[in-house]
Amino acid sequence: MSAHPRLADLAGSMALRVLQRLPPETAHGLALRALGRGWAGHRPQPPRPRLATQVLGFELPHPLGLAAGFDKNAEAVTGLFGLGFAFVEIGTVTPRPQAGNPRPRLFRLRPQQALINRMGFNNHGLEAVRARLAAQSPRPAALRADHQGRRWEAAAPLGANIGANRDSADPVADYVTCLCGLYPLVDYIAVNVSSPNTPGLRDLQRRDRLEALLTALLEARAALPAGGAAKPLLLKIAPDLTPEDEADIAEVALALGIDGLIVSNTTIARPDVVTGSHRDEAGGLSGTPLFLRATEQLARFYRMTGGRLPLIGVGGITTGADAYAKIRAGAAALQLYTALIYQGPGVVERVLGEVDRLLAEDGYDRLSEAIGADLRG
Ligand SMILES: Cc1cc2nc3c(=O)[nH]c(=O)nc-3n(C[C@H](O)[C@H](O)[C@H](O)COP(=O)(O)O)c2cc1C
Repeated sequence: MSAHPRLADLAGSMALRVLQRLPPETAHGLALRALGRGWAGHRPQPPRPRLATQVLGFELPHPLGLAAGFDKNAEAVTGLFGLGFAFVEIGTVTPRPQAGNPRPRLFRLRPQQALINRMGFNNHGLEAVRARLAAQSPRPAALRADHQGRRWEAAAPLGANIGANRDSADPVADYVTCLCGLYPLVDYIAVNVSSPNTPGLRDLQRRDRLEALLTALLEARAALPAGGAAKPLLLKIAPDLTPEDEADIAEVALALGIDGLIVSNTTIARPDVVTGSHRDEAGGLSGTPLFLRATEQLARFYRMTGGRLPLIGVGGITTGADAYAKIRAGAAALQLYTALIYQGPGVVERVLGEVDRLLAEDGYDRLSEAIGADLRG
């Protein structure tokens, strides 16, 4: 889109105001369609050398990505990179298409800048997503690096978040099917065992079941045709775990050698700040009221893993200060979702500009120096 940036911003904020008056899922569908057609424009981020960071073998111009669930079916990947995200995660994808829960299943809690959703893994299924990814138009260029320090240019990282069908008799097989199907088409895989909206799914976070699942996935990955370094396998966890479960997950993740953790998914808790008529809707809460819970959990995982496992911090990032707090609590990269719904595409620029300023104020030349800073010494 060649419109003057100020005009694009004006059009964008008008569109956002219109969308916010529509039922949330209708608004989401329209936004996704606009992004898929490139109508949201192109918002390249200005170079900010302090924000450049290396994580999971990706050389990112900045740490902020789009969290799973926004583009479940890979319908708007190019448009989403156009908003300035350094990486984008599609999904959750399940082997077979499924409709998800009956509507309404997505609720705005505007005063708290929060959402409650019980979508239930509505998605077009593996084959449809594979076909779309294979036909997808190009992504921006980015650098990759391997352990030997070799660098090469590739497309900006795209992740696929995978899950199991609600009626699956063998959830582990579902994850393996999705891993094998999506692996050649994306740059990392996120294993979602943390959605509160598929009955029994979160039980896969228990030690023995998690070991079995991750072992099966690592074996499946090893058996795939090798083409360079293995693509990262990450686990996305819930913010509602017991201390014992958290310790088990940290141990299993390190012992099995998965590549990172995404901390965290939505919460089934309802912190006191959440009020209003939707408070008691069943489902996962995201946005500002999730921030503290998810960030404290992130810090616990950073401590338990001793900084040896890359952590992607997600949950309630609304401002640059939130994003910076997650980095200081141990996040090597970040994701958001709900803030995009309330603030529109300008959120990427706002958050990154503020993180850059906060790093400079604290005397950091590089983002990597600030990772886990609150937990050292
Ligand atoms: C409507 C909606 C749908 C979501 N769907 C998924 C999903 O399919 N898979 C997943 O791993 N996370 C999903 N999430 C969780 C987000 O990826 C993210 O972890 C969570 O919303 C916390 O981040 P936020 O506070 O920035 O939104 C969804 C969130 C929302 C609001």
